[in-house]
Amino acid sequence: MKLLVTGGAGFIGSALSKRLHDDGIDVVVIDNFNEYYDVTLKRSRQKEFLNGVEVVEGDITDKPFLEKLFTDNQFDAVCHLAAQAGVRYSVDAPEVYVNTNVLGIQILFEVMKNHSVKRMIYASTSSTYGTATAAPFKEDVSADKPVSVYAAAKRAAELLAHSYYVQYGIETTCLRFFTVYGPWSRPDMAMLKFAQKIIAGAQIDVYNNGDLRRDFTYIDDIVEGFVKAIHTPLGYEIINVGNGSPVELLKFVELLEKELGIPAQKNLLPMQQGDVYETYADTNKAKELLGFQTKVDFKTGVKHFVHWYKDYYKA
Ligand SMILES: NC(=O)c1ccc[n+]([C@@H]2O[C@H](COP(=O)([O-])OP(=O)(O)OC[C@H]3O[C@@H](n4cnc5c(N)ncnc54)[C@H](O)[C@@H]3O)[C@@H](O)[C@H]2O)c1
Repeated sequence: MKLLVTGGAGFIGSALSKRLHDDGIDVVVIDNFNEYYDVTLKRSRQKEFLNGVEVVEGDITDKPFLEKLFTDNQFDAVCHLAAQAGVRYSVDAPEVYVNTNVLGIQILFEVMKNHSVKRMIYASTSSTYGTATAAPFKEDVSADKPVSVYAAAKRAAELLAHSYYVQYGIETTCLRFFTVYGPWSRPDMAMLKFAQKIIAGAQIDVYNNGDLRRDFTYIDDIVEGFVKAIHTPLGYEIINVGNGSPVELLKFVELLEKELGIPAQKNLLPMQQGDVYETYADTNKAKELLGFQTKVDFKTGVKHFVHWYKDYYKA
C-alpha cells in the first residue's frame, strides 16, 4: 500500500506518517513548510517522525507539481491534512484559507481523477458545526452555519469531496476532529499558549469565567481513528473523531498548573462574541462504522503534553 500524506510535517500529519511507516506502509509526505508558525518545529518533527519517509517540499495548490508527483508514484489513497489551520488567523488572512483549504483540495481531486486515485481521507473539523446544532454534535445535521472563514472553507471542502464522489467515484471519508492536543502540537493552540504563559508568569485569558466545555482529543487517538478510516472504505462519509466527554476550561487550567507545578495567573473574562458554551462529539458513528473509541484520558494526555513541552522548550 502506498499513501500520500499532505501536510506531513504538521502536528497531526507527522504523527500519522510515523504510525503508517511503522505499520509497514509506503508513505510519501508533501508539505510546503510555510511560516504560519515556527518552521523549526516542523523541521524537528521531520527529524523525529519522518525517518525513512520520503518528504517532498511543495504546495498542494501547485498543479504541475502534483501531476508530476502522481506520475512518479502510484498512490492507493491520499491522507489530506495540509491546510491553513486556526480559527483566529482566518480573520486576518481569509484568502489563505480559501486558497489552501478550498482551491487546494479541488486541485488535489483533479489530479487524483487524472491518475485514477480513488480514495481520500480528509482531516475536517468540529468547527464545521458552527451554530447549526447544540452539543453533542451529530454528523447528520446540515452544518450550514459556519461562524468563521476557517470553518466555511473546511465545510466547502467536504462538499467538494461529495461532488467528486458522485461525479468521479472518488471515495472520501471526512473525519471531523475535535480539538487535538498532545506532544508536538501547534504553538497557536490553547494548551501550548497557556503552558507558555503559566511558565512566564503572564496572565491567561479565561473566557466566560472558565465556564466553557470542550472536547479534547489526544493525538494518538486521532491517529488511531485515521488509520481505522484508511482501512475502512465507506464511499462518502462524514465521521466525528472526538472524545465525547467535554472538559471544563477551569479543570483544564488546573491540570496544567498541577503538571507544570506553577499556579496560573487567570484573567477571568466574559463570554467572547461568537463563542459557544459547549462543544463535544457524538461518537456513535465512529464506533459503528470504524470500531473506534478514544483510549487516552485527559489527565494522562496533559501529563504527556507537559513532559514533551518541558523537554522540547527546555522549560
Ligand atoms: N489540531 C487540531 O486541533 C485540528 C482540529 C480539527 C481539524 N484539524 C485539521 O487537521 C489538519 C492538520 O492540522 P494540524 O493541527 O496538524 O495543523 P498543522 O498546521 O500543524 O499542519 C498542517 C501542515 O500543512 C502544511 N501546509 C499548509 N498549507 C499547505 C499547502 N498549501 N501545501 C502544502 N502543505 C501545506 C503546513 O506547513 C503544516 O505542516 C488540518 O487540515 C486541520 O484543519 C486540526
